[in-house]
Amino acid sequence: MQLETLLANIAQHSNLVDSYGATHLPIYNTATFDQKRQFPNNKNYDYSRTDNPTRNALEDIFAIAEEGAGCVCVNTGVSALALLFDTVLKTDDVILVERDCYGGTYRLLNILLEKNDIQTCYADFTNVTEVESVLQQNKIKLILCESPTNPSLKIVDLQAIAELSKKYNSLFAVDNSMATFAAQKPLVLGADFSLFSATKFISGHGSVVAGAIVAKSEYWAERLNYFSNANGRAQSPFDVFLVSLGLPTLVYRMKTQEQSAIQLSEFLNSLPEVLEVKFPGLPSHPQYELAKRQMEIIPAVLTITLSSAEKAEQLIRNTKLFGEKVSFGTSDSRLEIPSKMSHATYSDEDLKKIGLTHATVRISVGLENVNDLIADIQQALKVETIKCV
Ligand SMILES: Cc1ncc(COP(=O)(O)O)c(C=O)c1O
Repeated sequence: MQLETLLANIAQHSNLVDSYGATHLPIYNTATFDQKRQFPNNKNYDYSRTDNPTRNALEDIFAIAEEGAGCVCVNTGVSALALLFDTVLKTDDVILVERDCYGGTYRLLNILLEKNDIQTCYADFTNVTEVESVLQQNKIKLILCESPTNPSLKIVDLQAIAELSKKYNSLFAVDNSMATFAAQKPLVLGADFSLFSATKFISGHGSVVAGAIVAKSEYWAERLNYFSNANGRAQSPFDVFLVSLGLPTLVYRMKTQEQSAIQLSEFLNSLPEVLEVKFPGLPSHPQYELAKRQMEIIPAVLTITLSSAEKAEQLIRNTKLFGEKVSFGTSDSRLEIPSKMSHATYSDEDLKKIGLTHATVRISVGLENVNDLIADIQQALKVETIKCV
């Protein structure tokens, strides 16, 4: 079954048992389940922290979509990362992480070091030799990366990293928040875990914070479930419902946003005030070929460098359609200066290593008409001349 078909009717395609034939996922907002009033052939429910029919249905759909053995839905994307760490790591383990990662991931890794002596080695995952040399020199328990990375939008060859993880006996997890399973399936490329913030493209309307993690193997799926229950990370049925509302349109939204992002990035590239446009959908992107091969849709996030921090502020202040907001992938376009918002937890030294300055702006392209977005940026920068290209 194609993904669009699966997502068009999740009540039908999930494991939900519903004798009324509900068209959409029913919300079982109940803490407990009466053992004496359950149909004998159904899965037995007990307590909603452990299992809940609404949540289980979404977990089922995510496991099918990511082609994994099982999924756990949790209350935020950060919680999915924390659940991964709870489940696989012990004191003194070492993790290898792509240097360009979400600021909340970086903060969590610093907490792991402080509280559990779990060290993180950082590397540039677009350089497979560099990754292998870290694996040769350290016993790495877990490898973690995003692709595209956030905010530098590098593309990691997930299959190559998965092969290295097997060679060196490490686990490999991919944060699939930006690409989503509509664009790429890390487990099919050899990863052990695919996790994501459903706050972004997956739910798509900025109405909920949510996360999920899918494991390739039954063993890890069961362990994730165990730790989610033990640490109380379960997503509430109402939040599951909000996430589910975005699913039928996910593929169509992402494809429309991709087309707008291509047009917007070409426009931005022609402006003298814009020194650099990073977008994996532009042929000038260093991993353009890999991006096209690895992802069916290029997610609509661009990172641009303006000629000065003042110009970046001018863009932020004067645009009317773009909110100054963190996060990405929603129906509304938004922009932010990562060094001040989503990546403010980075030390100055680490910001420098990933090439972020106050003149760097991340843009998430929404579902507005792209001509309105272009006109908005034009008026914000008071663009009169267009550079010859
Ligand atoms: C790549 C990535 N992973 C994880 C997260 C965390 O997700 P949440 O905000 O839902 O906790 C974010 C949030 O921006 C993100 O960009």
